Amino acid sequence: MNELLLHCRPGFESEAAAEIQTLAAQGGISGYVVTREGAAVVRFVCPEPGDAERLMRGLDFRQLIFARQWALGSWLDVSAEDRVSPIISACAAGPIASVLWLETADTNDGKALAALTKKLERPLHSALTKTRFVRPKNSEAPRLHVFFESGQRIFVGWSWMDNAAAWPMGIPRLKFPREAPSRSTLKLEEAWHHFIPRDEWDSRLAPGMTAVDLGAAPGGWTWQLVNRHMKVIAVDNGPMARSLMDSGQVEHVQADGYLFKPSRPVQWMVCDIVDKPARSSSLLARWITRGWCREAIINFKLPMKQRYREVMQCLEHVEDALDAAGIRATIACKQLYTDREEVTCHVRVLHAGSYKVQ
Ligand SMILES: C[S@@+](CC[C@H](N)C(=O)[O-])C[C@H]1O[C@@H](n2cnc3c(N)ncnc32)[C@H](O)[C@@H]1O
Repeated sequence: MNELLLHCRPGFESEAAAEIQTLAAQGGISGYVVTREGAAVVRFVCPEPGDAERLMRGLDFRQLIFARQWALGSWLDVSAEDRVSPIISACAAGPIASVLWLETADTNDGKALAALTKKLERPLHSALTKTRFVRPKNSEAPRLHVFFESGQRIFVGWSWMDNAAAWPMGIPRLKFPREAPSRSTLKLEEAWHHFIPRDEWDSRLAPGMTAVDLGAAPGGWTWQLVNRHMKVIAVDNGPMARSLMDSGQVEHVQADGYLFKPSRPVQWMVCDIVDKPARSSSLLARWITRGWCREAIINFKLPMKQRYREVMQCLEHVEDALDAAGIRATIACKQLYTDREEVTCHVRVLHAGSYKVQ
């Protein structure tokens, strides 16, 4: 098990590669990346035995912005006559797992393998439970990832549930709520799943809280906030969906989101305005340092070049502004499944020191 396999959005392989390389180097672990533009996966190979596992154990998965999922393992070449036996033999070399996930890359080639993985799922699962390499009752045990690059080349790996994405390939299966006015509603829901532990939703996304939605129209994000029974100030010059206005929970302010200031502090600020990432990060820093909100979710739309560097600069800018204001906060960032040429950033104020609301 000398490598990590990381899933990412197709087209973002070089960002995922730069990120894992940087973080591994910071942790004193050497390795090299193998990837191909559009492959939607990145391999990080560690020549030194034990290094790949050390890297995975030492690195908080939440620090990875461009990786949707990861697993520690190695590759097998199998024949079309018998794929199950070599997988079972490979599993003997790894930990007992709680669950089996069959995965492919998020590409057309990957989708073309769906018939094969479907056919193999049952015999593989049955062989793995018989050999007791997978024990579903052992819910704390790692997950077994069997990734098909092709019908002949398979990666067998493991991830630990407290340090990996909660879904196969890191892709959440969220259902589009029919009443929501736009598909981008799923983006805010996915962000909550990613950034807020499920058992904290009732206290952090609580009924009666006030939220400001900048760039709100037609109201997909506002719908999510209303659905949590919050009061929403929706800021956009464009029209909001009638159904949302009829809920009585939404105040529509036709104004420039960059100039808007709430009359009193709110719990949440969310922002989906399409703009330069530097402008979005300044807006985020302003809301937090002036004490206008306690938590924020905002998109950074990425330019075509230097995307990794751009995200790092945005995060640094926010971090520096918060440090200068003496604010302790968590800052997290992820390219969500629903994010295209963008990433989503979340900030939560933990301790605001002695600063005053301005
Ligand atoms: C991607 S859409 C938002 C979609 C929305 N989150 C949803 O789920 O329905 C971006 C919105 O930002 C608005 N917008 C652009 N610049 C703005 C600004 N400076 N202030 C406020 N809204 C702005 C646009 O009118 C547009 O409605």
